[in-house]
Order: sequence, then structure tokens, then C-alpha cells
Amino acid sequence: MIRGDSKDYELLEKWTKDFDCQGYKSCEIGVREGLGSKIIMDNVVNNYIHVGVDPYGNLNYQHYDNTGSYTCDYTDDMRDTMLNDFKSYRNQGKFTLCNMTDTQFMNDSEHRHSKFAFVHFDGPHMTKDVITEAVWFANRSVPGTRFVFDDYPTYDMTLIERILSFYQFKTREQGNNKLLMEHYG
Ligand SMILES: C[S@@+](CC[C@H](N)C(=O)[O-])C[C@H]1O[C@@H](n2cnc3c(N)ncnc32)[C@H](O)[C@@H]1O
Repeated sequence: MIRGDSKDYELLEKWTKDFDCQGYKSCEIGVREGLGSKIIMDNVVNNYIHVGVDPYGNLNYQHYDNTGSYTCDYTDDMRDTMLNDFKSYRNQGKFTLCNMTDTQFMNDSEHRHSKFAFVHFDGPHMTKDVITEAVWFANRSVPGTRFVFDDYPTYDMTLIERILSFYQFKTREQGNNKLLMEHYG
């Protein structure tokens, strides 16, 4: 069974249901066991491919602005289980894992020239990391692109909303845990 570790998955389902990716890619930063990616792949339409970005490897890193570094349970065994669970999606060319950090992904030439219609931000939860990711994807967005931020109360979402307003993104809806922004250009 593919599980998630967060809340507001029903909102993620609502925001992806029949969402037209216009032939562009979707992405989830931070895949873990895969529930977020599964919901996206099961609901969006006209998606070029869904890209999951996750280094796994049980890394020791600072998760939040106000904590120290520690490890969780994001092991390579978890990655292998996820890859097995997503076998049919992979065989259909619907899913690919970039087994690397967000920073490595953003420097990867294969993806630097892509456009993204939907992004779920659920990797590092430090404000500076989410800002870096959000600006990188905003520069690769199209009119109608949707960004969903998980655990947004744990970082400075107000600052991120302000920054993204300069890229023509507006907050459309929010739950207790997830927040949706959309490119209105
Ligand atoms: C909160 S979990 C993701 C939960 C998942 N999206 C879901 O809905 O079930 C966070 C994930 O982020 C990954 N992660 C940690 N540092 C990362 C980084 N620098 N770049 C990308 N992913 C990272 C972890 O390995 C972990 O799997």
C-alpha cells in the first residue's frame, strides 16, 4: 500500500482532478513512499511525465528553520519499495525518479530546459530551500501552472507568496496543511 505522511491529500486530489498539464511535466520534490505522486499521476491529464525528486539515503539534514539536523526514515529500501509500487506507472512512461537532491535536480541539464505545469513542494521545509525551488520552477512555469506547498505553516509562506506574486502567481485555496498557488498570466 502506498502511504503518505502528511494531511490534506483530499485537497491535492481536488486540485489535480482533471487538471490539464498541456503536455508539460509535473513534479514532486520529496516523494517518500509515493502517495503525493500517485495522486498527481492518477488525476492530472495531458501530462508529459511526472518527475519525482528525492535523494533518499536516509540523509542527515536540517528539516525546519528552527531545528537542528537529524535523520528520518527516508531510506534506500523505501525508495526501492516505491519504485516497485510504481512499476506500472514507470512501464507506461508516466513516472521517472530523479534520485538526487533538489539542488542537484535544478542543476541537471535534462530538466533545466523543461516546463512544468504542476509542482508539489514536499522536500526540504526550510524557507530558503522552498524559496530557491519556487523561483526555479516559477521560471519554468506556463500560464495556468499550479504549485502546491505542503506543510506551509512550518515555513515563511507569506514571504514565498510575496516573491511568487512577481512571477504572476496567486494563492487560490488553502487547507490547514497544503496551499495552492496558480499562475494567472
Ligand atoms: C515529507 S517527505 C515527502 C512525503 C511525500 N510527498 C508524501 O506525500 O507522502 C520528505 C521527503 O523529502 C526528501 N528530501 C529530503 N531532502 C531533500 C532534498 N534536498 N531534495 C529533495 N528531496 C528531499 C526526503 O528523502 C523525503 O522522502
